[in-house]
Amino acid sequence: MSFTSIWQADTTFSTFPKLQESKKTEVCIVGAGLTGITTAYLLSKKGIKVILLESDRILSGVTGHTTAKITAQHGIIYAELIETLGEEKAKQYYQAMQETKQFIQHEIKKNNISCNYEEQDAFVYTNDDAYMSQLEKERQAYKTLGIAGELIEQMPLQIPFKQALKMPNQAQFHPLKYLQFMLQEAVKNGIEIYEETVAMGIEYNRRPTVLTKDEHRVTCDYLVAATHFPFIDHQGLYFAKMSAERSYVVAGKTNFEYPGGMYINAENPSRSIRAASLNNEDTYLLIGGENHRSGEEKDEALCYQNLRGFAKEQFQIDDISYQWSAQDYITLDKMPYIGPITGGDPSILIATGYRKWGMTNGTLAARIITDTILKADKNPYKELFSPSRFSSKPMLKNFISYNARVAKELLKGKFDFPEAKDIDKLEIDEGTITTFKGARVGVYKDKEEQLHALDTTCTHLGCEVHWNSGDKTWDCPCHGSRFHYDGEVMAGPAKKSLRKISLDD
Ligand code: FES
Repeated sequence: MSFTSIWQADTTFSTFPKLQESKKTEVCIVGAGLTGITTAYLLSKKGIKVILLESDRILSGVTGHTTAKITAQHGIIYAELIETLGEEKAKQYYQAMQETKQFIQHEIKKNNISCNYEEQDAFVYTNDDAYMSQLEKERQAYKTLGIAGELIEQMPLQIPFKQALKMPNQAQFHPLKYLQFMLQEAVKNGIEIYEETVAMGIEYNRRPTVLTKDEHRVTCDYLVAATHFPFIDHQGLYFAKMSAERSYVVAGKTNFEYPGGMYINAENPSRSIRAASLNNEDTYLLIGGENHRSGEEKDEALCYQNLRGFAKEQFQIDDISYQWSAQDYITLDKMPYIGPITGGDPSILIATGYRKWGMTNGTLAARIITDTILKADKNPYKELFSPSRFSSKPMLKNFISYNARVAKELLKGKFDFPEAKDIDKLEIDEGTITTFKGARVGVYKDKEEQLHALDTTCTHLGCEVHWNSGDKTWDCPCHGSRFHYDGEVMAGPAKKSLRKISLDD
């Protein structure tokens, strides 16, 4: 079984060098996922000079770990948006997603991109009586907003359900094959790409300058932070305005004729289902779900097990070929933040908070950011997604509750001391939190039986990280930073590694 995503296993990318010197450019994009690459592609077509920096390898982050649905059906959302933002803005949100889908479809057709693009109907279903009325409310919201869709008695896929809401003519694809084309075109158009180049912060002196870990500088007219969580905060307080959620996916070959459709349930535990063919030969079923807040005390290995159990029970799939996990951020009003990082700074642009709908939200972000840089006034969605908005009551309520939870975690971590565990009894590939010389220490035993001991205090704002038994990482419950078992940062907002501890004496 492979611990990589089905898309990454199926696609290879050229490698690019590490940045070795300081540079100047018109636009510097940090983060080579869907948003970064699409933005680079669109700007390069207009002759803009772009430098694209990636801390790891191209597309190694969230985009490589998606289920790649291109849909405006983002779970149950429209009734809530009408309630919190009003009909006009809810309608605009839907239009933005539909236009994004059309944009992707248009690019694929025009450029003949071979990326398994298929139109599919999308379904949100429930087996929980408590969600029946919510689906009915969502159907009414569709009607109010003029969204095509209906409650249906039968779904093409034979799984138990009590009620389902269909949104026809949505789509799915192979995201990395699609982006491979965009990347190649952007390179042909002259963009420069640097991998393994970590952006640590910025200097600001009329123009933004990105500072890298190796102490090189990229000075630009516009900086685009397309890093999932913005790598700079710039007084935007993004860590206080978003919460992080993890989800898991397993994929196994189907042993039946897949009837089509993309499915997601409304309740918990979450389940998301679609099929994908690799090399136009084998068809795999992708089953995602088991969402939970990042870093909360949870048995992550059990999350994978539960998805495997679902694959076996519902589809008689015993053999899981791939499993992977992903993390995404949710904003205070559930809509992404796209645009200038703060109201007064138009030269630093961010895109974040996709709520696991990264194909549409990421592409939308690339288009808004491109239009902003090109000073094209035609993009009607700039205001709706502006990161400076703070208008609805739920935003204030969620702001208070997110930050109350963070404060609780911070205190809990300081006073809730773990029992001292005998490190000698750790199994291979097992991690634990224990006490060593009166201090809290995280210890992992690797496959060579070597112990890795770390200070569990997150280097972002000091919460205590938890051990993730599914992915073998240290995850922070406060703002979603993740660390490799040896303490290296895998995902921010933290920028510094966890401190290593010696267990020698
Ligand atoms: Fe903010 Fe850890 S991510 S304290």
